[in-house]
This record gives sequence, structure tokens and C-alpha cells, in this order.
Amino acid sequence: MSEQNQQQEKKLIFSGIQPTGTFTLGNYIGAIRNWAPLQDEYRCIYSVVDEHAITVRIEPAVLRRKTLEAYAQLLACGIDLEKSLLFIQSHVPTHAQLSWVLNCSAQFGELSRMTQFKDKSRKHQDDINAGLFDYPVLMAADILVYNADLVPIGADQTQHLELARVIARRFNSRYGDTFTVPEGYVPPVGARIMSLQDPTKKMSKSDENPNAVILILDDKDTIIRKFKRAVTDSGSEIVFREGKDGINNLLTIYSAVTGKSIEEAEKEFDGKGYGDFKLAVGEVVADHLAPVRDAYARLVDDKAYLKECYTRCGAEALRYSQRILNKVYRKVGFVASEIR
Ligand code: TRP
Repeated sequence: MSEQNQQQEKKLIFSGIQPTGTFTLGNYIGAIRNWAPLQDEYRCIYSVVDEHAITVRIEPAVLRRKTLEAYAQLLACGIDLEKSLLFIQSHVPTHAQLSWVLNCSAQFGELSRMTQFKDKSRKHQDDINAGLFDYPVLMAADILVYNADLVPIGADQTQHLELARVIARRFNSRYGDTFTVPEGYVPPVGARIMSLQDPTKKMSKSDENPNAVILILDDKDTIIRKFKRAVTDSGSEIVFREGKDGINNLLTIYSAVTGKSIEEAEKEFDGKGYGDFKLAVGEVVADHLAPVRDAYARLVDDKAYLKECYTRCGAEALRYSQRILNKVYRKVGFVASEIR
């Protein structure tokens, strides 16, 4: 089989991430660090979704900076452009074009039921814009415009992916087979990482307490200091158990970063104190993230290199998705255009 055929045999993965600033350890363990290992088994298309980011108010200069920083962080986390595409969503107009068509296969009622829309409209009552409402349709377009087979997502995105599947099926039954109905891809270790200060809450970069959040670009001292201050419980046993949210979270992080099972970790720290354990978790996390931090430092100021990367990948993504968009336009009955 020729190399190209082999390529085509591989399933296609699409995933996107919002340029929300420096990624947290939660983003990293739950999503980003799973992206690189997928590159050998699948054809991977990854995108920094800046169009999704403007559904909430963001300063233009901040968005521009965060988009480039997100791009550099993803490269630093091991996205390899010999194998995968990594581009900026707004560079590839087919996503927004398809989302218009898909809007007409999405129901008002369905979009109204999205929990993320309900949460965000509660949080941003002064700006419940149509883009916020329509967010899941653009996400469906991101995926369907490549006919992606698999979509790695965090648990909070399963409702959106389910809607993308509904839209794909509805379009297919109305216009004939067009879209692949994508499957969710739940990574083997898709651990949900909690706040270090309130381990009943998800680790979130919008947390007011900086000690609650590990950022992937934090230096070693900062990481260790934050882990030393992590909230635990009044007990002394390092075991994964109901009610021990802080220790459970630290064990989860330790296991995710070292690849050891929770049981192995429990054994390793049997008889040790919380202080030693926190320090050990801080050390492994800092050592694990050190290469990411170094790679990022090398990349982020090389604007010319970044530009070359996102331009080449964006152009290829556009070429690929244009074929699928053309087919969609034909199916819905748009007159063929010769405008180039
Ligand atoms: N909504 C996703 C999130 O916030 C990001 C996203 C946009 C995405 N488009 C996507 C994820 C397509 C997977 C596939 O996490």
C-alpha cells in the first residue's frame, strides 16, 4: 500500500481549544497532553478556536496575544507539524461558512437546552449574544467540515458533541449521506483535575486564588509552593477515598503525570505524611512540565516561525475542508460558483 493510501486508512481526529491564556494543569491532563500521542495512530487536525472566544467579551489585543500564545503552547506540548495540522480557526473561513448552513439544521429548542449556554448566559447577563447561543453549531461545523471520525473532548463538551451528531444525522437524512457522524474520544486518562484550594471545584484559570491553579508555564518553585499549600483534610492517610477530595486530587495528578496507578501511588506513600506527599507531587509535576516550559520559551518569541506554521497548516485545512463545503453547497441547492 502506498504511503498516501495508508494515510487515508487512518481515522481522522479533530479537536479545538479556546485561547483562554496560559493553560492549566487541568487543561493539560484532561485534554492537551492527550493530543500528541494520538498523532501516530490518527490523522490529527487541531485548531485554536478564536471565533468561539469572541462569544464573550475579550479585548482585541488580548485575544490576539492569547491566540498566538495558545498556538505556541500547543506546539510546546508536542503537536508535531510533520504529522498533524495546527491552525487558527479564523484563518479557515469554511468553518463559519458551514456553520451558517448547519444553523438551518439546528433547532432553537435544542440550542436553548445546552447547559453551557444556560451557565454562560447567567454569568454574562448583559451580553447574551447570538454567538453565545450559536456556539455549539460553530463547534459542529469545526468537526463536520473535515468529516472527522473522532473528537477528543473534556466531559463538559459531551452535550455539544451529541448535538453535532444530531445535526449531522439530520442533515444526512434531509439531503443524503454527506457527513460522518463523529464519535467522542475519551482519553484513557481523562482525569478531572480539581482546584488545589477547594478540591470540590474544577481547577479553573478564572479562580481568584492563584494558589488554586497550576499553570503549565509556572516555574518549579511556584509549582512546589502551590502544592505545599494544597488543601487536604484533617486525617493522615494517603488513600483514595470518598470524602478525601484533596488527597484524591493529588493522587489523581500524581498518577496522571507518572503513569503509575492510584494503587501503586497509595503503596508508595504508605506511612508517609501529607507534607512529604505534597512535595513529591509538586516535584513530579514540575519535572514533567519543565520541557514544555523550555520549548515554549524558545517558540513564543519566534513570530516568523509561528506564522509560517499557522499559515501552512491553515492553507492545508482550507483546501481539505473546501471540498466538503462544496459538496454541502451542492446538496442544499446553491448554484455552483466560479468565483475564486
Ligand atoms: N468548545 C470546546 C471547548 O470549549 C472547544 C471547541 C471548539 C472544540 N470547537 C471544537 C472541541 C471542536 C472539539 C471539537 O472545550
